[in-house]
Amino acid sequence: MGSRAVRFIYAVLINVGDFQLKVATYWSLTVVAPIISKPDQSKLNLCVVGAQWGDEGKGKIVDLLTPPFDIVVRYQGGHNAGHTVRIGNQKYILHLLPSAVLHKGKTCVIGNGVVIDPRALLKEIDDLKQLDVTVGSNLHISSSAHLILSYHGEWEQGSEALRGDRKIGTTCRGIGPCYEDKYGRRGIRIGDLLNPEFFRRLVAENVAEKSKFFPSLYHFEARAPEAYAEEILSCAERVIPFITNVPELLAERMRNGSSILFEGAQGSLLDIDHGTYPYVTSSNCVAGGAATGAGVPPHVLHRILGVTKAYCTRVGQGPFPTALSGAIEEDIRQRGQEFGASTGRPRRCGWIDLPALHHAAILNGFHSLALMKLDILSYFDEIQVCTGYRYKNSIIKEFPSEVWKLEECRPVYVTRKGWKTQIGGFRSFEELPIQAREFVLRLEDDLQLPFGIISTGSERHETIFCKGKGIDEFIS
Ligand code: IMO
Ligand code: MG
Repeated sequence: MGSRAVRFIYAVLINVGDFQLKVATYWSLTVVAPIISKPDQSKLNLCVVGAQWGDEGKGKIVDLLTPPFDIVVRYQGGHNAGHTVRIGNQKYILHLLPSAVLHKGKTCVIGNGVVIDPRALLKEIDDLKQLDVTVGSNLHISSSAHLILSYHGEWEQGSEALRGDRKIGTTCRGIGPCYEDKYGRRGIRIGDLLNPEFFRRLVAENVAEKSKFFPSLYHFEARAPEAYAEEILSCAERVIPFITNVPELLAERMRNGSSILFEGAQGSLLDIDHGTYPYVTSSNCVAGGAATGAGVPPHVLHRILGVTKAYCTRVGQGPFPTALSGAIEEDIRQRGQEFGASTGRPRRCGWIDLPALHHAAILNGFHSLALMKLDILSYFDEIQVCTGYRYKNSIIKEFPSEVWKLEECRPVYVTRKGWKTQIGGFRSFEELPIQAREFVLRLEDDLQLPFGIISTGSERHETIFCKGKGIDEFIS
């Protein structure tokens, strides 16, 4: 080929390349950039996470912190959660709905990571209506959230019974089996209700499969597929208006300057990956779960607030190194009213466990902690704080990942002086007795984390907000 011909081909390629570059530049500036543009950094998002085995007081904290936020999102779990919020004399217990439903003008979102029994959802909405709380166009449910059907609860009862002594002690609400179907890629999602034919077919396929192992493993027959399908379809008319493309909604609202509060359920030690497996729930309760469970990029989780009690509780089976027994446990249980908000079961009670909290801090990257129910410890001469474990002949500081190892760990305590004075309702740190202040400051020192909130009672005003402790942006 002659040199003129080669030059001509080069010229064409360069021009084509130039044109492509222009098109690409135009595309990235006008189409892509607005989509990936960063959210308004002046409005930070916050993720509230349980730092223990659940029931830490996330409901109260989310309720308190909701006012500056535009949107509150639940991102995992289901109606196994029980978030108690007390406003004046009225007690509200929320299971599936974000606690922000109690606030007017907030957008409430249930993300794809949540599993939903539509009957439980509608009951919760109806119960709230009795208390003058209206849930309507303020609620959005991700089309991709999985549905809990009756066969999930039946399956769970069979499976717990089969485990005998090694049962998990679940809430038996069908949560685990629903996630099993999700990850087995046979789950049914709430968006499938928009196509009843498709929904019925999925139910039939599921029931056909479950009919094969229910009788042999659990000794009962599954019902007819239509029975399971109709129970859910009878809720469809009321549920369908909530179905939303949540990732799109959240992305658009963040582009327009809205801020989000992510409300975790359960606690870090119940996380399916990082908790005391297998004695855990079936979802990712840690902050990372908020990104996948809401459908937002991880970098929009600007701040993470962990919630811990000043002592420790656990419902259901599984290792609990600082568990107490006898009169002290009963005392904490009664004073702290430690009975499950969802199932009414008495919670096991024990002293605060720093290796466990340190583990939660590593998993979540807490910017700050909320210390709940400090008032409940007001009655003790001495308070124990677990700083490590004795395992065989050595002292360990790390929270073991292996359940068999954790079961053999015995707590190593340091003793803190009690304050023996009522602190219920105190609202400033300086007001607290010196022993209570020392208790908090030494926890901060041990954990190398600030306590931004200290709760001294179940009501909103029974709270101490601490300036300069990682949550200043969210309190007025
Ligand atoms: P909130 O959000 C405390 C526990 C159950 C059981 C284990 C697995 O109120 O903190 P599941 O039914 O989830 O499969 O049960 O998890 N559990 C909770 N414990 N608080 C909760 O929620 C819990 N949700 C589940 O007791 O040990
Ligand atoms: Mg609870």
